[in-house]
Amino acid sequence: MRDGKAEARALLDWYDRHARVMPWRVGPDERAAGTRPDPYRVWLSEVMLQQTTVAAVRDYFRRFTARWPDVGALAAAADADVMAEWAGLGYYARARNLLKCARVVADDLGGRFPDTVDGLRTLPGIGPYTAAAIAAIAFDLPATVVDGNVERVVARLDRVEAPMPGSKPELALRAVRLTPKARPGDFAQAMMDLGATICTPRNPACALCPLEGFCTARAAGVQADLPRKSPKAPKPTRRGYAYVARSLDGAWLLEERPDRGLLGGMLGWPGSDWAEAPAPAPPVAADWLEAGEVRHTFTHFHLILTVLVARLPADAQPGRGTLVPAGKFSPGALPTVMRKAHDAARALVDT
Ligand code: ADE
Repeated sequence: MRDGKAEARALLDWYDRHARVMPWRVGPDERAAGTRPDPYRVWLSEVMLQQTTVAAVRDYFRRFTARWPDVGALAAAADADVMAEWAGLGYYARARNLLKCARVVADDLGGRFPDTVDGLRTLPGIGPYTAAAIAAIAFDLPATVVDGNVERVVARLDRVEAPMPGSKPELALRAVRLTPKARPGDFAQAMMDLGATICTPRNPACALCPLEGFCTARAAGVQADLPRKSPKAPKPTRRGYAYVARSLDGAWLLEERPDRGLLGGMLGWPGSDWAEAPAPAPPVAADWLEAGEVRHTFTHFHLILTVLVARLPADAQPGRGTLVPAGKFSPGALPTVMRKAHDAARALVDT
């Protein structure tokens, strides 16, 4: 296996010239001048980036850090304020872990994030990827950050023909071999930038790539085909039920989904587990009508939801969920599959 020294040098030289500017990033010039990244900002950005793209995170990051400039401020925030700022980033369980983590750091660790991968791993919401990213970027420790971008770069550089996901351990090992002892934080960010802007999944811009001369897939002309993927197992189809109820004054019967599991912590309609099971008891006694079926595809399965709809009498006593007044409800706050159920039901319960 290559020792990676020349590749790391070429990549860091490229990063010195082309690093993307991001509100949480200490760029290579500032870093060389001695500026150290703020671990709070690195942590916050990495948790946000678990959800979505750099472009989408920028504004959330700016708002969070303007309102809560350090971990003590965030730890002291009201839960509802943090949830409201998080809205739109999805996965409220992550926002809850974000707050838990801030409070552990502020209350138990004197406001300082641990400066080791193992120490970071003990914190709520920090898995192996995020721990490595914070260790490398905030503390310049030689931790190797492996995400889909990095796997793609390494698969091409070393022409790893074995398909994903089976090749993941091998790609991770090869990424470790490439990580330099000097500037590992800049190296991690350079790999991310290279994967996002040049070594892209389709049509990689090899002519602009600092690693072109080292890339064995490029030499063989197979770069666009790597990493290969194992043929996917066909997705199973699951079925479920959603009960959309509206009271006569226009309020909607909604419930927060359990923290764990799909759409954890998000708002939804009372309903069933998504399995081949008979319809569960409705959340409240009413004249339920079928409003049709909606379909939605998740990462691992297709879902067909039967939507039932009812107007609730004024004295209804729902056994599940909460009646949310029409003025406080916006279908945009629902995850997509729940919004589809809303759209299917709406005409039957419009006031
Ligand atoms: N994706 C995840 N973390 C990132 C970072 N620090 N910079 C750019 N893209 C990222």
